[in-house]
Amino acid sequence: HSDASTKKEKTLAMIKPDGLNYTDDFKRIVNDFGFSILRELTMQLDEDDVKLFYAEHSKRSFFPNLVKYMTSGPVFVMVLEKVNAVADWRALIGPTDARKAKITDPHSIRAMCGLDSQRNCVHGSDSLQSATREISFFFREIVSTGKGKNLPKLES
Ligand code: PPS
Repeated sequence: HSDASTKKEKTLAMIKPDGLNYTDDFKRIVNDFGFSILRELTMQLDEDDVKLFYAEHSKRSFFPNLVKYMTSGPVFVMVLEKVNAVADWRALIGPTDARKAKITDPHSIRAMCGLDSQRNCVHGSDSLQSATREISFFFREIVSTGKGKNLPKLES
């Protein structure tokens, strides 16, 4: 028996460049909170990757800073799976602005390792639809960039 409340979801979690040294800690937290790690990958994003991944924010004034930050070193991405994975991962990481997180969600990941709205150390998909797009970005063949070539496809 399975219905909406028991159906597993996948989400994309990304550890941003200044969190890379803490990859093992992130993986421990992820496991402690009941997520399965289906895929993981460390990679250096280039400017075009960041522009594509964050396309919806491309008109924002902070965008050039976001591109600089996200290309400043490798990122670590994971496909996480559990019931309610999208919302639960977002809740675990806390609000975008790590300064706010320290006040409203002091036990969240961003409260612990982030500094502000840019250097917030982790990313999480904001909806099931974004999760599908973002997982494909890293883990399926993407014709335009060639990223993810030869990687096995995830079962949906
Ligand atoms: S939105 O659409 O206004 O709700 O945007 P938000 O979710 O707050 O942020 C979207 C991503 O942009 C990053 N961001 C910034 N980068 C650099 N400088 C500033 N000021 C800034 N503000 C927001 C933010 O970290 C979000 O990245 P992700 O990876 O999605 O958390």
